[in-house]
Amino acid sequence: MPSGGSSAGTPKPWEHAKSGQGSGSDPLAVRFVESLSYDKRLYKHDIAGSTAHARMLSAVGLITQAELQTIEQGLGEIEAEIDAQGESWPGWKTELEDVHMCIEAALIEKTGDPGRKLHTGRSRNDQVATDLKLWLKEACGSLQSRFDGLSRAFVGLAQRDGRIVMPSYTHMQRAQPILVGGELIAWLTAFDRCWVRFEALQKVNEGCPLGSGAIAGTGLPVDSAHTAEALGIGAPTPSSIDATSSRDAAIDFVYALAMTSMTLSRWAAQWISYVSTEFGFIELDGRYTTGSSMMPQKVNPDMLELVRGRCGGVYGDLMALLTICKGIGLGYYRDLQEDKRHVFNAFDTVASCLEITTKVVATTRFIEGKINEGLDRGFLDATGLAEYLVTRGVPFRTAHQIVGRLVGRCQEKGLSKLSLMTLDDFNQACADTRGRLETCGPDVYQWLGAEQVVQRYRSHGNAGVTGFEQQLSAWQSRLAH
Ligand code: ARG
Repeated sequence: MPSGGSSAGTPKPWEHAKSGQGSGSDPLAVRFVESLSYDKRLYKHDIAGSTAHARMLSAVGLITQAELQTIEQGLGEIEAEIDAQGESWPGWKTELEDVHMCIEAALIEKTGDPGRKLHTGRSRNDQVATDLKLWLKEACGSLQSRFDGLSRAFVGLAQRDGRIVMPSYTHMQRAQPILVGGELIAWLTAFDRCWVRFEALQKVNEGCPLGSGAIAGTGLPVDSAHTAEALGIGAPTPSSIDATSSRDAAIDFVYALAMTSMTLSRWAAQWISYVSTEFGFIELDGRYTTGSSMMPQKVNPDMLELVRGRCGGVYGDLMALLTICKGIGLGYYRDLQEDKRHVFNAFDTVASCLEITTKVVATTRFIEGKINEGLDRGFLDATGLAEYLVTRGVPFRTAHQIVGRLVGRCQEKGLSKLSLMTLDDFNQACADTRGRLETCGPDVYQWLGAEQVVQRYRSHGNAGVTGFEQQLSAWQSRLAH
């Protein structure tokens, strides 16, 4: 291997001055140090950052108007070439390490000295921090539109199947009756919180690092406000040191992705139960189920299981990113190059999970007949009966006791539901507990049965008729514009 230069391919411009061999001399080191394989997806953001930087350099007189034009034209051509050629763009050279150097080298090749002036008052450290922020801003927007699609799917399902009465569960034990729509509003609410996290992130992401240089800034008369204005990610950051060595916005972003992934995973877990033969509450569209290689009868909810399973990878990305950053004091370290692997991986995973979830939700049916079959099991109306007693002046704790007793008696008599008990049975239970006869009137039967209970909920956000109708129309008008 010849000494004094790179033998693996294009020499790195900044290694010319070095007397010894650079990392380009050993192909193993070239492969080890590169980030091009995963940061080339930043090319549009890199070119946007470079364009804003060049315009600023010309505005302050560090380059001429003619040089700016040459640079802008060169960057425009490079962008068009990459748009057209993608992975096979000849400018992608691993020995140049990353997207920033590949684009700069291609510009220098096209334009000569104007291209060599682009890096004036700039470092890859403020460059990469800026590119990442531009990418994060765009990624938040694209996730938010995926959430909108998912919300539309839930609202569509709620319009069709939302009024079916179903049991709710706590501890996986039958609890109170709800509408299917009550459950769907729960998912809409949880995913809406995810949406809000990405909205809030735009604020955390604010602050334009370009102009910070490598760590300390620059003695050249750059105008960071000019650059920041053009890029739309807020004012110049107050500290060049912080701007180049922190990745807080990226961590918040991956945390928001982890929360999204957790919510998706909870949804998947719930519906995996519902789709089982034991529940049989929902039917998935055939496009989103798979078979077994051995058991011919199987129809498996693999999409849902993968949504749940991939959550683990997203948590992993969050832990990785937090861990990478914990050892960084001030100033850029190459550790930070690893950030993008995790940011991109978490984003890609969650984006695709949101897409498949939207399809699944849009094509799932709740099976009213099957849900109805079991609606009388599990004394879903017991709390409703206790509330009836409260309306008759019984203290709730006593009412709870009375209904507990009644449920016991009902079971002893081999009856499946409270509405099969006589008025005497009800009043006897009241008398046994309270020593007072005739607490219940015949109207007690209007409080029994899942169908009647869901009509009675009146508290804000309830999972019955009033809560569902109110939330459904709020969602409908929200999604209408
Ligand atoms: N590829 C690098 C990264 O992603 C760019 C910054 C390199 N800076 C440096 N001082 N080596 O972080």
